[in-house]
Amino acid sequence: MTSINKSSSWKALNSHFKKMKSIHMRDLFIKENNRFNKYHIQYEDFLVDFSKNRITDETLNLLTNLAKEAKLEDWRDRLFSGDKINFTENRSALHIALRNKSQKAILLDGKDIMPNVKKVLRQMKIFSNDIRSGKFKGYTGKKIKSVINIGIGGSDLGPAMICEALKSYGAKDITPYFVSNVDGADIAQTLELCDPETTLFIVASKTFTTQETMTNAYSARTWLLKHLKDRQSIKNHFVAISTNGAAVDKFGIDKENMFEFWDWVGGRYSLWSAIGLSISIFIGMDNFEKLLNGAHDIDNHFKDAPLNKNIPVILALIGVWYINFFKFNTHAILPYDQGLSLFPSYLQQADMESNGKFIDRNGNKIKYHSGPILWGESGTNGQHAFYQLIHQGTEVVPSDFIMPIHSHYSIGNNGNEHHKILIANCIAQTQSLMMGKTNKEARKELKNQNLDENMIKILTPHKTFEGNRPSTSILFDKLTPKSLGRLIAIYEHKIFTQGIIWNINSFDQWGVEYGKQIAKLVLPKLIEPNETSGFDSSTNNLINYTKKNI
Ligand code: F6P
Repeated sequence: MTSINKSSSWKALNSHFKKMKSIHMRDLFIKENNRFNKYHIQYEDFLVDFSKNRITDETLNLLTNLAKEAKLEDWRDRLFSGDKINFTENRSALHIALRNKSQKAILLDGKDIMPNVKKVLRQMKIFSNDIRSGKFKGYTGKKIKSVINIGIGGSDLGPAMICEALKSYGAKDITPYFVSNVDGADIAQTLELCDPETTLFIVASKTFTTQETMTNAYSARTWLLKHLKDRQSIKNHFVAISTNGAAVDKFGIDKENMFEFWDWVGGRYSLWSAIGLSISIFIGMDNFEKLLNGAHDIDNHFKDAPLNKNIPVILALIGVWYINFFKFNTHAILPYDQGLSLFPSYLQQADMESNGKFIDRNGNKIKYHSGPILWGESGTNGQHAFYQLIHQGTEVVPSDFIMPIHSHYSIGNNGNEHHKILIANCIAQTQSLMMGKTNKEARKELKNQNLDENMIKILTPHKTFEGNRPSTSILFDKLTPKSLGRLIAIYEHKIFTQGIIWNINSFDQWGVEYGKQIAKLVLPKLIEPNETSGFDSSTNNLINYTKKNI
């Protein structure tokens, strides 16, 4: 395949960009008073308003052509049919099978994988019910009250984000904790909050070799045995989720307490697998199933909706438009829901580990930008932190505003005062970012404040906003397991779509593996007594300085 930036649709987009770069969205809204009608997609309770973007019909047509030229539809079929599209690891990327609620078989190497998926779901259901009901007890016969998930990356971020998001569905007598950092503070501070007799550890690791996770798991085991003084207690307090049965066995976790998953589940797509056990324990298996249902709905939508009515595809294409043509290299995720406070960091892994790549599928260095720097924070907190830059900075930051219409919490006047204020802020931000405030408007406003002419002159440029700052609003009824499943799957498929357009493998992560490899070289150097040489002078000196002062 020739490089996508040499394709006819890319070239057409380049010429179109020359026209579009100076057009203000204000003018587009004046010209097309039905702009919202044209540029939104309603999918059941999900409303995606992408009208506040620097696009026209022509832009969308050209972007859709680009997706076609990149053979998005073929690749989408290959994803769903279990082709080994993660070719650098010779693996399929079949997370869609984990939430396949149809009765259809999904074949991998000619064998239906659904029976195994369902078997593990049943195992999760029994175990989650037993923990919640108190049937499964700690070693001394007490009910489990604390569930500590020990994992990192995909074995942590998804479950942690979801347990936070769906707190209002959580069991009141179970507290989920997430320990990921190898910094001892993480596990030590968590253990301080827990009683060994009522604590369950979930060691969540696809490989069961990850340094951070295994170090934390061994420290947890030491802590447990110090208090319960019997190796038999491990059976009542440790479960493992992994693809590596031998390593789980070596750690001392009973086969019965192991939940399997498979190499065709990428780490950052694993929350739908047994890696979601902390979720199913906390919110119950029925709710976990609803999360899967939500994702399955979006799998169908992504598969079946025409490209120009397809939510993940539209989000992806608008992203490509900004990254590759406007050269806006960052993207903000701004959820107006406290429950989604971890959503930006969850998405950082999903997006940046997937599309942070400069080598294409043919092994060539790409000559265009790929994955954006993703960042964000829940609203309204972000407004009082970094929104200044989004409004008036020299960087333009396309932003996603994510907002449920109803809150789980009835508080304030009429029971919805807080939520109304939250919504007002969210909508107001998208409006002001798009419209801006002209010099003339700023001047008029200052004049109305009866300021003297000199002051007006000084203040006017500071109170002027260029506007034309793009945003997409994603609204849905309420943050429920189902809507959260949908939201996550929308982004997963958006990321996939962008990876296809950029012709990169979104399912490996060799950069992360490289970091792990070097850490393994540095650690023994920190331990050995003699002076370290052999690295560059900075690294040698950092190691030696640390050794001297440790
Ligand atoms: O961050 C790199 C990574 O390989 C992720 O893809 C994965 O989610 C994480 O490490 C943890 O890996 P494991 O589940 O094998 O411990």
